[in-house]
Amino acid sequence: IKKIGVYTSGGDAPGMNAAIRAVVRTGIYMGKEMVGIMQGYQGMMEKNFIDMGARSVCNIIQKGGTVLKTARCMEFRTPEGRKLAYENLKEKGIDALVAIGGDGTFTGAELLSKEYNIPVIGIPGTIDNDLSGTDYTIGYDTANNTVIEAIDKIRDTAASHDRLFFVEVMGRDSGCIALQAGIAGGAEAVLLPEKDTGIDDLIGKLEQGVDCNKTSSIVIIAEGDKNGGAYNVAKHVKEKLGDSFDIKVTILGHLQRGGSPTSFDRVLASRMGYAAVNALLVGETRKMTGLKGNEIVLTNLEIAINHSEFKLEEDLLEMSHVLTI
Ligand code: F6P
Repeated sequence: IKKIGVYTSGGDAPGMNAAIRAVVRTGIYMGKEMVGIMQGYQGMMEKNFIDMGARSVCNIIQKGGTVLKTARCMEFRTPEGRKLAYENLKEKGIDALVAIGGDGTFTGAELLSKEYNIPVIGIPGTIDNDLSGTDYTIGYDTANNTVIEAIDKIRDTAASHDRLFFVEVMGRDSGCIALQAGIAGGAEAVLLPEKDTGIDDLIGKLEQGVDCNKTSSIVIIAEGDKNGGAYNVAKHVKEKLGDSFDIKVTILGHLQRGGSPTSFDRVLASRMGYAAVNALLVGETRKMTGLKGNEIVLTNLEIAINHSEFKLEEDLLEMSHVLTI
């Protein structure tokens, strides 16, 4: 391996810059040439490459977003698109890749690597924490902290007005952020895609809360929940309970993806970036770096993107019910 390309793709996540910095500096330390590929697969298609030195990644460890930019590229999903991408990589002399992103990014990386025999290592960068093979993805911890800051603020106004708030959080098909937010924010209930407990159960909990003299409540709804989102849940609850609750809805949206990464995410990203380059240099390919316990491990990309292997921690859900009686 002489020249390593690094790119970010899919939804951005806080800590991606810290990962880019670690990849670039580790590669240079090991005597390799480093190239940044702008806008992920889009940049491969358009030859949007930049040569990167150690100083090119100064002052980015603390920044949210990604300095390499990101995109969701449809053309790369076709065999013709991947052929063009590979030809451009070859022309630039890039002979190995580090892909930073989530399942879409890794699906593309796996295909490109298999079709053209180019080594690739993935680094999990997504707020959703929905990949098998790692306890934490880069950006998840920062997103959790952003969400909890917002929920604390909502709680202030909910308590002052005796209101019931439905707060919708991101996560695509994963309830990880919702569950964390529910526990750390002391929410009365959490609705998750992984375990549909239904509106009737939720209503039971809210009524129980009133019986226990609760005057305000917060319910966290994961965007992937099967009951149709926060507005829909609010509508159903209102239909059943009438005016006994003053109901408000807040969708936190993309603010969850921004912001300066937490210390945890910066260290995680640094460890994974360092590990990814070292993995390539000892001949590993089509694997994702992950953190299991406090160990950096490698998992096959095809296992990492297999959602069915991902298990939500049911014991935490159980605990959150107990702690909100
Ligand atoms: O994968 C990260 C994520 O923020 C999901 O939680 C969310 O469903 C999605 O991306 C939103 O994507 P976009 O920014 O393209 O609307």
